[in-house]
Amino acid sequence: MDQVDQLDELLTCRLDLGKKAVEPCTIVIFGASGDLTARKLIPAFYHLHREKQLPAPFRIIGFARREKTDAAWRDELKAALEQFSRTRPVDEAVWSEFSANLFYCQGDITDPAAYQKLDKRLLDFNHDALRRNLLFYLATSPSQFGQAVEQLHRTGLLRKDEDSHQRVVVEKPFGHDLASAQKLNGELTRFAHERQIFRIDHYLGKETVQNILLFRFSNSIFEQLWNRQSVDHVQITVSEKLGVGTRGGYYEEAGALRDMVQNHLLQVLALVAMEPPVSLEAESIRDEKVKLLRSIRLMHPSQVAANVVRGQYTAGEIDGQPRPAYRHEPKVKPDSTVETYAALRLLIDNWRWSNVPFYLRTGKSLPQSASEVRVQFRPTPHVLFAAQCGPKLDANALTLRLQPNEGISLRFNGKVPGGSMEIRPVRMHFSYDSEFGAYTPEAYERLLLEAVAGDATLFIRRDEVETAWSIVDPVRRAWEGMPLTAKEFYPAGTWGPVASDELLAQRGHAWRNPQPVT
Ligand code: BG6
Repeated sequence: MDQVDQLDELLTCRLDLGKKAVEPCTIVIFGASGDLTARKLIPAFYHLHREKQLPAPFRIIGFARREKTDAAWRDELKAALEQFSRTRPVDEAVWSEFSANLFYCQGDITDPAAYQKLDKRLLDFNHDALRRNLLFYLATSPSQFGQAVEQLHRTGLLRKDEDSHQRVVVEKPFGHDLASAQKLNGELTRFAHERQIFRIDHYLGKETVQNILLFRFSNSIFEQLWNRQSVDHVQITVSEKLGVGTRGGYYEEAGALRDMVQNHLLQVLALVAMEPPVSLEAESIRDEKVKLLRSIRLMHPSQVAANVVRGQYTAGEIDGQPRPAYRHEPKVKPDSTVETYAALRLLIDNWRWSNVPFYLRTGKSLPQSASEVRVQFRPTPHVLFAAQCGPKLDANALTLRLQPNEGISLRFNGKVPGGSMEIRPVRMHFSYDSEFGAYTPEAYERLLLEAVAGDATLFIRRDEVETAWSIVDPVRRAWEGMPLTAKEFYPAGTWGPVASDELLAQRGHAWRNPQPVT
């Protein structure tokens, strides 16, 4: 180790001070035959086990309707792991140790007798903590959440108690509007305390999304510029190359606004714009996020057209491959008006951000898959170089690249070497991979571990989810029953509808597309 390395080592301050304290527990997955269990949950638990992060002992019970033995379920999961694991081939020794903790419980979520059967399986483990410390993962349709918690409560498996070691993890979509989210929250909190409910937004499990907070609050030079005096506007882009593929049925009910904006994009916005929390405790961080979301100016449906743009992809080409129109995707109505693209201009009514536009956009079948936050600083005064170079003199920008090619770039102007006074924008770039080596744990690994450990920081609180719905609901209402106009279609493989460029042009801004992956 040279001196610089030694110094870096000394300066590296670990906040978690080692591994999470986890107690022996049983994880019960409802909806165990589904895609999520095979693709995400079991691979994540397998990796956590491989890295010795799971408690000892632990058990995982899959609960689903189909008749199946433990052995058959394990075989299915092994086949899926071979396909979806982030490290391949699967390590046989690790798998055999891990899979000995997997059990299957056949039952119908609506049938009280099934919960007795589940209780019996738990008792058969003959271990107090494995019967008492329970994590219920509801990977089912939200319409079944209420029933599941009620039955668990009646069977005595879920005690309503804020200090209880029984927790419920729920997947999105968390409702389809404010009213349905409130209803769902009401159902869940009848039988469980809010502190026992862990609402997942997988974006919060991403390393780079977590880094937004650390970056902002551990670097004074940026934080001092993080306000209306210095920032001209902010762009948050989450673009995807993929179309809706086989998820047309779900997407017809969701659209980009519910699928991405209400959760992932607003969460990223909250982390980018919130005030410093009083501590790193879950509630302090969540309090600040809610405060920020509540400061977003709500739109009346009549203001939506001026501030929000929707789009839907038509046939096109991505990477030389033809792509179908959204309306020709499986399970999509031929005259669907569902948006596969949304762009919003949001204003935050607080002292820090008054009048600074926050532009959010997301879409499917776009030219690139990339998520990034671009903080565009104010231009220099119109004297000296600005007067000379006009629009060629770029304003400074800081880009937080969330995925892929995770990193942070600062854009500023530099003099082109030579006799003339030529100025050109240059970039200073930090890349996670080159600094720390490739490190790509799945978001689910982090989130599941936090849920097992009972740390709710990376999960969405009730008031957060409801506030987020109150922001997108008026938009959805304004769009209801409105046919799409020609300006709202975009060919697959382009950066969205023309109307989206116009939204920014109104204030003299323009989208900056993510740099292509090299
Ligand atoms: C999911 C959405 O929540 O996030 C999908 O339902 C979307 O439509 C996905 O593709 C994007 O996640 P990621 O991690 O690939 O950016």
